Amino acid sequence: MEVKSAVFKMSVPGLKECPKAIFPEYAFIGRSNVGKSSLINMLCKKKELARTSSTPGKTVSMNYFMINDNWYLVDLPGYGFAKRSKEKRHEWSSALSNYLQKREPLACVFVLVDSRVPPQMNDISFINFLGQNQIPFCVVFTKLDKLKSAEADANIEAFCAELALDWEQMPQMFKTSALDQTGRKEILNFIGKINDEFWKARKNAKII
Ligand code: GTP
Ligand code: MG
Repeated sequence: MEVKSAVFKMSVPGLKECPKAIFPEYAFIGRSNVGKSSLINMLCKKKELARTSSTPGKTVSMNYFMINDNWYLVDLPGYGFAKRSKEKRHEWSSALSNYLQKREPLACVFVLVDSRVPPQMNDISFINFLGQNQIPFCVVFTKLDKLKSAEADANIEAFCAELALDWEQMPQMFKTSALDQTGRKEILNFIGKINDEFWKARKNAKII
């Protein structure tokens, strides 16, 4: 799939304020600073579409980007950001689980995981939460350009071993780098296929 247009649509605090449930949407989530906003920019080939920063906690609300006038990318605030107040963290975590559990056109959640580090418990528990709630997701390993491929593979293997303790089937996984565009084509093709299924299901249900 090609990205022909990508525009910022709106910034919302939670489910209630999300746009009308018409288009399929893909949410990007992961620990603060893992590279969510950078990956969105890489997919859209637009350097400053989503704001990025080397300081964690840059994205503070849910940002909707309309792609090709018929689907959304949603940039979410990171989890596990220690510097945010306990109250704010709690607020966001309940807004997030409400959104993930109730947002009808949420076609897939992209869980971003830093390929430079061994498995982190907050990533694993987040994935377990998605699995337990039957929320469709895939895993995206980020920052592959920052380490040797054997090192990344060892971390990825350890991550899969950790997941295998709870799950029989492995989710779809992507290796990416926002710097050199590794994984771009694969992710866009994956989204393209889900979009086709989304519209087919809508048509069968006579919603459109
Ligand atoms: P928050 O919004 O704060 O949760 O962070 P985020 O997950 O959106 O991360 P962001 O995209 O802002 O990136 C964080 C930092 O990592 C920035 O300095 C990026 O330039 C850098 N970064 C992100 N992805 C990559 C990558 O693939 N390769 C390299 N080398 N740097 C990256
Ligand atoms: Mg961000």
